[in-house]
Amino acid sequence: MYKNTYKLVIVGGGSTWTPGLLKSLCLKKNLLSLYEIVLYDIDENRQEKVGRFASVLLKEEYPGLRLICTSDKQKAYENVDLVFCQIRTGGMKMREQDEKIPLKHGCIGQETCGAGGLAYAMRSIPDMLEIIKDIREFSPKAWILNYTNPTAILSIAIQKKYPDDYRILNICDQPINMLKSYAKVVGADYRSLTPVYFGLNHFGWFTHIYDRDKIDLLPRIKKHILQHGFEPENKADRDPSWLMTYSMVKDIITLFPEYLPNTYLQYYLFPEYKVSQMNKNYTRANEVMDGREKKVFAECIRVAETGSAKGSFLAVNDTHAELIVNLAIAIMGNTKEQFVMIVQNNGCIPNLSDDAMVEINTIVGKRGAVAIPVGKISSFYKGMIEQQYAFENLVCQAFFERSSDKLVQALTLNRTVVDGFKAKAILDDLMEANQGFWPLLK
Ligand code: NAD
Ligand code: G6P
Ligand code: MN
Repeated sequence: MYKNTYKLVIVGGGSTWTPGLLKSLCLKKNLLSLYEIVLYDIDENRQEKVGRFASVLLKEEYPGLRLICTSDKQKAYENVDLVFCQIRTGGMKMREQDEKIPLKHGCIGQETCGAGGLAYAMRSIPDMLEIIKDIREFSPKAWILNYTNPTAILSIAIQKKYPDDYRILNICDQPINMLKSYAKVVGADYRSLTPVYFGLNHFGWFTHIYDRDKIDLLPRIKKHILQHGFEPENKADRDPSWLMTYSMVKDIITLFPEYLPNTYLQYYLFPEYKVSQMNKNYTRANEVMDGREKKVFAECIRVAETGSAKGSFLAVNDTHAELIVNLAIAIMGNTKEQFVMIVQNNGCIPNLSDDAMVEINTIVGKRGAVAIPVGKISSFYKGMIEQQYAFENLVCQAFFERSSDKLVQALTLNRTVVDGFKAKAILDDLMEANQGFWPLLK
């Protein structure tokens, strides 16, 4: 018999993204009915603040929904139907190291790209695999929606451990963030558009953006950006570093005009220029710790103290939250809606390895994410993707084999590092900074 009301767990419940997810769940309660929601976190302090906000919001907007805040795995994972995974192993303090160490060596310091992504992956893989093992022990059929970063590398590690588990889905919100901003350029509503997208996570391109009349808007969008530049659609809510990131889309399409890029490609296409623009002493992690984190937790406390979430800037259905909740609705309701997801290639791009975890269009329903074939890709994209995938795959191999040699190989292959001496020097520093997080390597 099918259930029609569910238990949902948010792993990393103390994340600053949780309030938006809760609001989105409230707005969509007729499409996804929950009887229990669990905020699971290992940090009781963060958990408590977000939990107090949750309790006020849900009382106002989701009466009857039971809220549990816990650090007890069994309580969280028993009889669960849906899991959202958003952990950050090592927290923002380690993100800061991931960004600052490579910059010290003149290389890109970014949370998910290059050496920073490698460091973050080596910390996160063990935690993510343990979380999935625990969930599967208590709830073998729960749907696990993972968007923990670096999703590109984590999805490979998860696929290696759980090759047949179609109830684990990996997703990133950047394709939809980009689509929303691209749509705005031509005054279109992104909901009316069908994008065609391919690549790896944080490493992909839009080849077409069709409107309801099957007209491809991509040439118009490109022309407009080349003339007027590019901004995120929600620029008022964005920090300076994100505005800078979006503005570089114009540079990308000036040099590489065939498709519309994901913003993350700039780190690989213009590594020297990007390093020259990055502040070695104040990176994105600092911006988040001084900005988003402070604002979100202060607002959680304010809402708890006033006893109402009405009008709170946290109670908004942001793009990320809407995406994740829509994905859950598509699975549970078997809607067959299209989502850009990270799935095993399996011939969808025939001239890439079958094993690669590619980010492409899929149709989502009760069998999970079913990939839509892309077809062969041309030399530039094939070369770029193969090199990046080799990097990502080597990081996973390094983790499973406990091999530091493979990490040197990985970094040398990465377009943000390239030089073997630099690779080794960055690795030595990262290894030292990550003692107690990374496994012991040979
Ligand atoms: P954060 O540090 O603010 O929050 C993460 C929370 O997870 C913290 O409360 C922390 O205590 C908790 N946590 C850490 N390890 C845990 C574990 N093993 N088990 C349970 N809880 C644990 O980080 P954030 O900025 O809110 O982001 C969370 C994650 O989501 C990051 O990996 C981030 O990169 C990712 N993210 C991805 C997307 C995407 O679309 N792919 C979008 C937003 C955030
Ligand atoms: C984009 C990316 C995510 C990333 C998020 C927040 O949406 O796709 O992977 O987690 O930005 O990044 P930030 O730098 O703001 O923490
Ligand atoms: Mn992402």
